[in-house]
Amino acid sequence: MSTVLITGGSGRLGRSVVAGFAASGHTVVSVDRGALPGDPAPAGVVQESIDLLDAAAVQEVMARHTPDAVIHLAAIAVPFSAPEDVILRTNTMLAYNVFAAATENGVGRIVTASSPTVLGYGNPSGWLPESFPLDENTEPKPWNAYALSKLVAEQVMRMFATAHGHTTRYAAFRPCYVISPEEWEGAPTQQGHTLAERLADPALSAPALFNYVDARDVADFLAVLLEKMDSIENAQTFFVGAADALAKEPLDKLMPQFLPGSEALAAGLTGTSPAFSIAKAQKVLGWTPQRSWRTELTDTNRADLASAASH
Ligand SMILES: NC(=O)c1ccc[n+]([C@@H]2O[C@H](COP(=O)([O-])OP(=O)(O)OC[C@H]3O[C@@H](n4cnc5c(N)ncnc54)[C@H](O)[C@@H]3O)[C@@H](O)[C@H]2O)c1
Repeated sequence: MSTVLITGGSGRLGRSVVAGFAASGHTVVSVDRGALPGDPAPAGVVQESIDLLDAAAVQEVMARHTPDAVIHLAAIAVPFSAPEDVILRTNTMLAYNVFAAATENGVGRIVTASSPTVLGYGNPSGWLPESFPLDENTEPKPWNAYALSKLVAEQVMRMFATAHGHTTRYAAFRPCYVISPEEWEGAPTQQGHTLAERLADPALSAPALFNYVDARDVADFLAVLLEKMDSIENAQTFFVGAADALAKEPLDKLMPQFLPGSEALAAGLTGTSPAFSIAKAQKVLGWTPQRSWRTELTDTNRADLASAASH
């Protein structure tokens, strides 16, 4: 039982993370510009509405709650959804403000959300990895402000670990394309298509290389990470994804259609294999995702999938 402060708690991913920690009996402080949906807030959840760009406000909230752990999710979460300089400034300053305030207030475990986009796929000038599956050793090559801001957030995490790693535990994680629980029921995904549409038309999931993860699996991952952070190497980064690809066909067939030149590289992505490896999280933390589109799609959405496929 401890106090966990979660920034971005009202967001697509944050709502499941807040719910997960509250359900396991933690006191949760959800810090966000916006409110959690529903009134009142779930039991055990305190809401703080501040702009995390305001460093003094972040310090004040952190000092007042003295959490045991901080999970930093708040960000401009969609590439090109704001001017590039605004995304870079906002996301990097948010990460810095939260890590600085948490560290100065003696928080023992501090985690930030990064993103698989740091790797640089989708680059209009072309991109190919050295090999598949992609993992924590794949060289990051960000080509837009969002991806760069997430790589900087990882570096902010490492900078604090370099200076304060003797007293404080730090980590970063790269969640794949987040699917929140209502999206299995047919709500639009982050980029505005339903899951049925995404599965029926591979072109929709190809830009993210068919990666995805259920938000509740991310919440489970974070619970395990916080539990084990004291006993693993400090300042690590983890990919967090589903165990399969968001596609009906194997990626060795699909990838070359959307990523020119990847025929040989993708040859090992047979069956349901995803393009992103979660082997590190499985090995270091013993975490395994419990959910897949094959288990979570509701009957209604399955019917949509059948009808989308027949058009
Ligand atoms: N959704 C995905 O597929 C995905 C994939 C990879 C990484 N991520 C990362 O995971 C995190 C959560 O993503 P999400 O999809 O839940 O995003 P989201 O946009 O749904 O939620 C982000 C939350 O941050 C809050 N926020 C933004 N700026 C703020 C500020 N200045 N002060 C206070 N609150 C602020 C917003 O109000 C929002 O509730 C982000 O860091 C994102 O970059 C998300």
